[in-house]
Amino acid sequence: MPDTLRAHPYLSKLTSYASSPNKVEDEGVTCRLCYNESPFGASPKAIEAIRNVAAGIHRYPEMSYRRLHEAIGKKHTIDPARIVCGAGSDDLLVLLMHAFIGEGDEVIHSEYGYSMYPVAPRIAGGVPVSVPEIDLRTDLNAMLRAVTPRTKAVLMANPNNPTGSWLTRAEINAFLRELPPHILFVYDAAYAEFMEESDYSDGLEWAGEQGRVVVTRTFSKIYGLSGLRLGWCYGSHAIVEAVNRVRPPFNVSLTAECAGVAALQDDAFAEKTRRHNAVWRERLFGELQQLGLKPYPSQGNFMLVRFSNPRHASDVFNYLKEQSILIRRMAGYGLADCLRISIGREEEMTALIKALHQYKGFKG
Ligand SMILES: Cc1ncc(COP(=O)(O)O)c(C=O)c1O
Repeated sequence: MPDTLRAHPYLSKLTSYASSPNKVEDEGVTCRLCYNESPFGASPKAIEAIRNVAAGIHRYPEMSYRRLHEAIGKKHTIDPARIVCGAGSDDLLVLLMHAFIGEGDEVIHSEYGYSMYPVAPRIAGGVPVSVPEIDLRTDLNAMLRAVTPRTKAVLMANPNNPTGSWLTRAEINAFLRELPPHILFVYDAAYAEFMEESDYSDGLEWAGEQGRVVVTRTFSKIYGLSGLRLGWCYGSHAIVEAVNRVRPPFNVSLTAECAGVAALQDDAFAEKTRRHNAVWRERLFGELQQLGLKPYPSQGNFMLVRFSNPRHASDVFNYLKEQSILIRRMAGYGLADCLRISIGREEEMTALIKALHQYKGFKG
């Protein structure tokens, strides 16, 4: 491009995901336990819906996405008019930043928050502000102390990826009472469906009609539609209107729309996935402890495990990869002595656990 043509100077502070340390080399592996994907593929109902719509994909989707909004509204007993859908919840995160963040605005996130949090604000010229955690758990008081006159938003995943840690309803309620009312609170509940704790909130109760809370959700996890790209957010009319202003008109494909509607009707599939996840999450925790490692309690479909040092973590990663089992390195998150394991199918988990037990490096 000509020398005189320049992208926004603030983009120079941004590393694209494809060249970041979070990038995953996953070619040809048998057990792909690195992306927190669904162990059972997608709901058969969603796949059938995709087949059925295939002959009509020369048409644009219906512009208002009414059917999808109504299906989500019905499922969660929320107002369809206050829903916006996107190509995954990452898309919505970026749209929210474009709608609310200007150059120099500060956006607070937790130290080991989801990897898009230090990235998305920069896309809009904002400045991500990372707040230290306590033992891999979001420190809400430290977040409040990090608020400055330039703070415009807080991004928080509950439960959080990659740590798996979560915050209670009471903790978030107390936080919201103290957070100045002009600050947008993005509550990312990507793993809400996997939660088993009764004092957890999926956040929809806070996304009031007049409020500043916006909840993001995804079809990528329990519904197994990662590759299709579908997510949604729920907030006040004003927030939704702002997001709709920056949203391209057809940001969700017709295929994704139809599959999403069908997936929401497949309770049995979601329930099977939830139960499988709970069983293997507990089993994996026990196995990792038995090996003398430090797994972190998780409410997601993954588990973070700490090794004695970064070298040890790296050796185990490479050893597993040689056996065609790919888990996730955490150096990109600043957790080089940790690895993250997604909960896969039974045979994948069995292979992983067997391989770990055969690994000689744990003993002395
Ligand atoms: C906490 C969290 N939020 C959002 C996302 C993005 O999901 P999507 O596939 O909907 O963009 C992920 C994906 O792993 C995640 O872990």
